[in-house]
Amino acid sequence: MTGSTGLLGRKVLRTALGRGWDAVGISRKDAELSDGGAVRKALSKLSPDVVVHTAAWTDVDGCEKDRERAWMVNVEGTRHIAEACREFGAKVVYISTDYVFDGRYGPYGEEVLPHPLNYYGWTKLGGEVAVLSSSEGNLVVRTMVLYGWAEGVRSNFVLWLLENLWEGRRVKVVTDQWGNPTLADDLAEAVLDLLEAGCSGIVNYAGGDFWTRYEMALEVAGRLGVDQGLIVPVRTDQLGQVAKRPLRSGLKTWRAEEILGRRPMGFRKGLTCTLTQMGVEG
Ligand SMILES: NC(=O)c1ccc[n+]([C@@H]2O[C@H](COP(=O)([O-])OP(=O)(O)OC[C@H]3O[C@@H](n4cnc5c(N)ncnc54)[C@H](OP(=O)(O)O)[C@@H]3O)[C@@H](O)[C@H]2O)c1
Repeated sequence: MTGSTGLLGRKVLRTALGRGWDAVGISRKDAELSDGGAVRKALSKLSPDVVVHTAAWTDVDGCEKDRERAWMVNVEGTRHIAEACREFGAKVVYISTDYVFDGRYGPYGEEVLPHPLNYYGWTKLGGEVAVLSSSEGNLVVRTMVLYGWAEGVRSNFVLWLLENLWEGRRVKVVTDQWGNPTLADDLAEAVLDLLEAGCSGIVNYAGGDFWTRYEMALEVAGRLGVDQGLIVPVRTDQLGQVAKRPLRSGLKTWRAEEILGRRPMGFRKGLTCTLTQMGVEG
């Protein structure tokens, strides 16, 4: 599993170990993705059956500004993983994103032709192509708005809300971005279940609620019992972000639901899990 210091990587590793799998985390120290030789060496030492590739440069505005680095890490890095896995006979599970879509007509099913709005989205799409063209057995799991908590993890949308609202600070939150907030723990379980079910191709897995970021923020404020007036509604074009964001995004998860026999976790339950892990509730 790559990206062992990231949010999803930690959750996948913990979940796999909890299931008794012989799982090992690969961090940037073990293998810098843009270095094909380092990737090959790290994987040849482990000779894995499966590599869950969660590592990526996930800074959307950073990718827009430094396109060369974004391409080297997210596309070439993924190609290095896919090529080494083909050589060693391992399956790749690649974590991709709703940002491969432009957000005009979401929520999106797996069959919709991608059309990214920003460079991060293009690089994640390039990673999909590298993985799917490398072996028919490989799997791409598309997800979105990941949140969750783990010791020392870098911030995400929900943690950012919690940190600011707790301190009584006002936050600007967009009212025009729709999507499915996804608890990383729930996604980690789903990724391993999809693997056990022998899936290949593209499968969407994202949270069970289709909300705006503003609605998510109101829910978080309500749960903390803080003044909802701290949340200042804004439009995306008022934020002046470097990279464009898909607005009406979202992922349809029917394929995953049919395979797994369950609905993805909704936001309220996911928030409860997060607060419990942080020692705030429960
Ligand atoms: N976050 C979201 O909302 C979201 C939504 C949809 C899809 N995804 C996808 O889901 C996956 C996991 O996301 P996440 O939120 O868990 O990401 P994250 O917390 O940002 O973690 C990214 C991981 O990738 C590693 N990494 C970055 N650049 C690297 C490089 N050049 N060489 C080796 N490792 C490198 C990081 O290592 P360091 O700690 O050393 O930097 C970290 O372990 C990503 O593929 C992302 O594209 C995320």
